[in-house]
Amino acid sequence: MSQFQKNVELVRSEVLAQDVIRLTFNAPEIAAAAMPGQFVMVQIAPGQDPLLRRPFSIHQITKDGALQILFKVVGRGTRLLAQVQEGAHLSLLGPLGRGFILAAPEKACLVGGGMGIAPLLFLAGRLSQPVHDGPRPKVILGARNRAELVPLIAAFENIGIKVLAATDDGSFGHHGLVTDVLQGLNLDSAFTVYSCGPRPMMAAINHLCQQQKISCQVSVETVMACGMGACLGCAVALKAGGYAHVCSDGPVFEAGELLWSL
Ligand SMILES: Cc1cc2nc3c(=O)[nH]c(=O)nc-3n(C[C@H](O)[C@H](O)[C@H](O)COP(=O)(O)OP(=O)(O)OC[C@H]3O[C@@H](n4cnc5c(N)ncnc54)[C@H](O)[C@@H]3O)c2cc1C
Ligand code: FES
Repeated sequence: MSQFQKNVELVRSEVLAQDVIRLTFNAPEIAAAAMPGQFVMVQIAPGQDPLLRRPFSIHQITKDGALQILFKVVGRGTRLLAQVQEGAHLSLLGPLGRGFILAAPEKACLVGGGMGIAPLLFLAGRLSQPVHDGPRPKVILGARNRAELVPLIAAFENIGIKVLAATDDGSFGHHGLVTDVLQGLNLDSAFTVYSCGPRPMMAAINHLCQQQKISCQVSVETVMACGMGACLGCAVALKAGGYAHVCSDGPVFEAGELLWSL
């Protein structure tokens, strides 16, 4: 698997909703090597402070070598990253980790919550190729409210995917959880569910999939220092005992391999 460390130009910085930012980098080598579910370690600001890069899922890539990330401002690093000016250069390391294993689009169902939506756009696009008018995966996206969800849905609609939406406050789509929508689809056991979002959401999806004997892959987030298997700071507990490292064994895992607490 090829990995690159490149100083790349930030060509576009967009505020999609309050504290929700989409950055577009010109990163052709990383974009060409990337698979859905993989991530990049991003330098947070020009200069050396903060020293540690932060991990972000690859949200989208384009044929002309652009790579996008989508993130929420949650702390110092993301606040600084949101302020980087277009035209600045930042160091990107990637693509890193193991991504999703792709199923047939007509038997794939993607379920994202909040910023967990980020890796699912790239996955949805890749699942829909190479047949332009071919079958599309089912996509269920959830967020707290309409303002957070609508700008994220637009990117899926741009690649011909109709999204089933859910919001916590009922301001858009189903009033409730993405798991309610997933349950309502009554998927058969030939489906693969792909999920990324808050841990309780993924635990509930795993539970549902286990009951219905549906294969389920999840993308897991932990705090990460190195992103490359060197610091051992990103461990997750396995059902069979022991630990896996999210940065090198994941971030995508078969949900049934992980130890979940509901
Ligand atoms: C493989 C991977 C992919 C990720 N992809 C995305 C993405 O596409 N979009 C996105 O918005 N975020 C993503 N994250 C989370 C993102 O890396 C963190 O939000 C970011 O590092 C926070 O940096 P900070 O300096 O702003 O926050 P800090 O000041 O370090 O922390 C602020 C708060 O955020 C929490 N936090 C910090 N790091 C993480 C983390 N890794 N996971 C969960 N909570 C964390 C802290 O516990 C604290 O409560 C991903 C994480 C991983 C491991
Ligand atoms: S982040 Fe250092 S080992 Fe995973």
